[in-house]
Order: sequence, then structure tokens, then C-alpha cells
Amino acid sequence: MARLGALVCCLLAAWHCRPGLGLPLAPAGAGPAVGQFWHVTDFHLDPTYHITGDHTKVCASSKGAKASDPGPFGDVMCDSPYRLIFSALDFIKNSGQKVSFMIWTGDSPPHVPVLELSTDKVINVIANLTTTIQHLFPNLQVFPALGNHDYWPQDQLPVVTSKVYNAVANLWKPWLTEEAITTLRKGGFYTQKVSNNPKLRIISLNTNLYYGPNSMTLNQTDPANQFEWLENTLNLSQQNKEKVYIIAHVPVGYLPFAKGIPAMRKCHNEKLIDIFRKYSDIIAGQFYGHTHRDSIMVLSDKKGKPVNSLFVAPAVTPVRSVLERLTNNPGVRLFQYDPRDYKLLDMLQYYLNLTDANIKGESNWKLEYNLTQAYDIEDLQPKSLYKLAKQFAIQESKQFIKYYKYFFEREESLGKEQKLPAFSGELLNALHCNTTTTNNKNVIDVL
Ligand SMILES: *[C@@H]1O[C@H](CO)[C@@H](O)[C@H](O)[C@H]1NC(C)=O
Ligand SMILES: *[C@@H]1O[C@H](CO)[C@@H](O)[C@H](O)[C@H]1NC(C)=O
Ligand SMILES: *[C@@H]1O[C@H](CO)[C@@H](O)[C@H](O)[C@H]1NC(C)=O
Ligand SMILES: *[C@@H]1O[C@H](CO)[C@@H](O)[C@H](O)[C@H]1NC(C)=O
Ligand SMILES: *[C@@H]1O[C@H](CO)[C@@H](O)[C@H](O)[C@H]1NC(C)=O
Ligand SMILES: *[C@@H]1O[C@H](CO)[C@@H](O)[C@H](O)[C@H]1NC(C)=O
Ligand SMILES: [Zn+2]
Ligand SMILES: [Zn+2]
Repeated sequence: MARLGALVCCLLAAWHCRPGLGLPLAPAGAGPAVGQFWHVTDFHLDPTYHITGDHTKVCASSKGAKASDPGPFGDVMCDSPYRLIFSALDFIKNSGQKVSFMIWTGDSPPHVPVLELSTDKVINVIANLTTTIQHLFPNLQVFPALGNHDYWPQDQLPVVTSKVYNAVANLWKPWLTEEAITTLRKGGFYTQKVSNNPKLRIISLNTNLYYGPNSMTLNQTDPANQFEWLENTLNLSQQNKEKVYIIAHVPVGYLPFAKGIPAMRKCHNEKLIDIFRKYSDIIAGQFYGHTHRDSIMVLSDKKGKPVNSLFVAPAVTPVRSVLERLTNNPGVRLFQYDPRDYKLLDMLQYYLNLTDANIKGESNWKLEYNLTQAYDIEDLQPKSLYKLAKQFAIQESKQFIKYYKYFFEREESLGKEQKLPAFSGELLNALHCNTTTTNNKNVIDVL
């Protein structure tokens, strides 16, 4: 946190157990006072998951490590069994929350060695989850973004059309326009207006093109011409007086757990930041996945003034690597916005206590926290979050302890033996456009 004025400041994020509130309604005829949408991410379905006496054989995603306490809803050493993913979606369906749309920021296949997957297997997993969502929510518009695992071999998303881009373009047709399908097929990204929100545009970026381990985009200043397309799209949007929500898998900025390391190559990260700064007045929110952890970022302009709010959603998969001590409980989240100007008002984080669900044999998804209430802030605007970030910077602050607990979707405080990490965002390892991070141990395989 030494560098609040730096590019993007990674904040750790949080809310608490309250029953889900219904949608507040304005007087008849005026339409709802609050707009809402769901954000789900990082399902990582492991079709091999099954309960068996030999704990090294529960799931391919544990890669031979012993499952910890496997139950019907999963295990912390494994990616999601189908039942866990279904329970998350079923909870959303039966929550009683009225929403305008859902965003889904990628990573459907499991974390297994490259040779255990194939292009067809990756497509089959994405097709399975797409069909599941379409069956459960036949009338809901869903905006997906591709993740670094939504490709084979993983991370190597190309700058030209491919079998995977084609497959998802076909699978996601029911949700998207012809124009969106066309760019998705070409480069894995698209833009589209939200059906029932005439001045709200979604831009779904393929930030996997900028991801360190992607060797297809080495040395390229503008892979798939996505930067150029993004600038043109934002420019048009500005002229048309629209507001934009950016969605993508790999987030800009620093990774929350690896000090000073961006998920993207430095040059791509900076280019993206430049564009976001230039158009920050029309970007009403940014939503990412990939890190599997609940976190907040604030983008500041060159003078250090906060100009954008960025949210990284926790994963549905609870998986951790053998090197990690802690992992997240499965989570899904609901955003609330002002339907007049699309400003973000609040966020409700829901989670499943995996241990409890496995003991009881039933899933009890609960509200973990409500962002404005948990931190006593007014709204989700950059100014409010920036003020909060300054409180995080105070050593052992109550707010930061809370943030760190919510970072893992935990209801209890993390034991004394768990040392609170320092909060910092300094750039140590600059990743240039001509370097890959494939062997960089700081980019943890779990992503
Ligand atoms: C998805 O795969 C699971 C097994 O992993 C299977 O039980 C389920 O029926 C499949 N669903 C669809 C819609 O293909
Ligand atoms: C990238 O550039 C480096 C150094 O200029 C060069 O050695 C390397 O072959 C290039 N890689 C690709 C994939 O073009
Ligand atoms: C948007 O595009 C127009 C026309 O090409 C250009 O004149 C204008 O400077 C652009 N706006 C920004 C903010 O770059
Ligand atoms: C989850 O539930 C278990 C069993 O009911 C309880 O002991 C534990 O405190 C809860 N843990 C978390 C991480 O929420
Ligand atoms: C969040 O909590 C505050 C304080 O209890 C409450 O006023 C507000 O309505 C809650 N927001 C949502 C979206 O539940
Ligand atoms: C990679 O790019 C950086 C910055 O452009 C440069 O300083 C460095 O020498 C390049 N490395 C190689 C191997 O070309
Ligand atoms: Zn990822
Ligand atoms: Zn992931």
C-alpha cells in the first residue's frame, strides 16, 4: 500500500451474513429503484470428481495429492464437482432476486496437466456449463468472457480465429448479437448493449491475450488488435452517451497475493490502464475473475485521483494447490446499480461453507456481507473505495482484517498463526512484451 498513487492499487475486499433483501421498488410505473446483476466466475468443473476410499484418486485436479475431506460438494484439493456448480446456480435461481443480466468471467475446465485435456474436452466442459445455465435461466441474458483455462493448451489463446472461439461463438449465440458473435469468433472478445438497459454497454475483453504465460502474443504490441478495437468502441460509446461495464477474466493491476506482480505483461497492463484512464468517465465499473479471491481495486488518474472501481470476484471452485495453506469458500455475487446512470451502489457477496455443506449433505448458500454496510461506506464509487483503501494501509487496521477474512469467503477470523500479509502494490518484476512468465513461480498454477 506504499503506492496508493501507483497505477492500480490492489485492495483486499468484504460484507456479513444477512438474509437476502428483496428488490426495493419505486412507486408503481416508475420501474425499479435499483438495477441488479449476478457475477459468477471460475467454475472449474472437474468431471472426474467422485468419493472413494483412496483419497489420492478423488479428482484429477488434485494431481495425485490426497483430498482433504471429500464430500458431495467437493474438497479443497479439488476443482468443482458438477453438484457444487449446480448448487451455486440453483441458489441464484431461487434467491428471489430480480436481475437484468448475469456476467460470467470464464475458466470452466479443471486444473489438470495439459495432456489430460484436449481442445474437444475443453469445448465439452464449456458446452456443459453453457447448457446448464441456459436450461436454468431460459430468459436471462448472460455475458461471458473467456478465461485462460478456456483453451487448449491452457493460456495459449490465439490472436486469430480458432476451434474454441468458433465453438463458444456458437454456444453463446442465444445471448449475443450478430456483431458480437463476429468479433468473438475472430479474437475472443465482443461488445454488446444490455437488452433492457438502452444506455448500458458491456465490453467483454479477452485479457488472456496479455497474460504472462501466453506465448502466442509475445512481442506483440496489440494482439488481435484488441486495443484499437477497445478504443474505437469506447470512443463511439462516449459519443452515444452510453455507460460501459468492462468484463474480463485476467484482471489489470497487481496480483493480490504476489507482491508487485501484475497478472498481465507490464506493457499490456500499462496500455490497458492508459485506455481505461482516458475513458474513465464512461466506464461505470470493471469486473474480473482469475485470482479466485475477493478483492477490490481502485484505478487512479495520473495525478492520483481515484477514477474507476474494479472488482475481482471469488471463484466457485474451492481448489488450492499443495503450496497454499488457505483457500476460498465457493462464492457468487450480486451487484446493485442505479438504473438511471448505471453507477454501482452496492455488492452482496454470497458463499457456501463447504465443510458445513459436506457434513449436512445439503448446500446452504448464505449472504456473507454487503459491501457498503461491512465497511460503512456510502456507495461503490472510486472515491468511497479510495477512502477505504487508505484505512487498509494502516497497520493491522480493523478494516483490513475484515478485508482479509472476506478475501477467502470466511465467516470466522483467521487464526492467530495466520500472519496478516503486508498490503502493498509496488512493481518489482517488470514483465516486458517479450518475456513469458511460464516458469515464474510467482504466477501460481491455481489460476
Ligand atoms: C454436465 O456434466 C455432468 C457431469 O460432470 C453431468 O452430470 C451433467 O448432466 C452434464 N450436463 C449437461 C447439461 O451436459
Ligand atoms: C521476441 O523477441 C525476442 C527478442 O527481440 C526474440 O528473441 C524472440 O524470438 C521473439 N519471439 C517471438 C515469438 O517472436
Ligand atoms: C474519438 O474519435 C473522434 C473521431 O475519430 C476523435 O476526433 C476524438 O478525438 C476521439 N476521442 C477521444 C477521446 O480520443
Ligand atoms: C463452516 O461450518 C463448520 C461446520 O458447521 C463450522 O465449524 C465452521 O466454523 C464454518 N467455517 C467457515 C469457514 O465458514
Ligand atoms: C446493506 O446494509 C445496509 C445496512 O444494514 C442496509 O441499509 C442496506 O439496505 C443493505 N444493502 C443491501 C443491498 O442489502
Ligand atoms: C525486452 O524488452 C525490453 C523493453 O522493451 C528490453 O529492455 C529488453 O532488452 C528486451 N529483451 C530481449 C531479450 O529482447
Ligand atoms: Zn484464470
Ligand atoms: Zn481460475
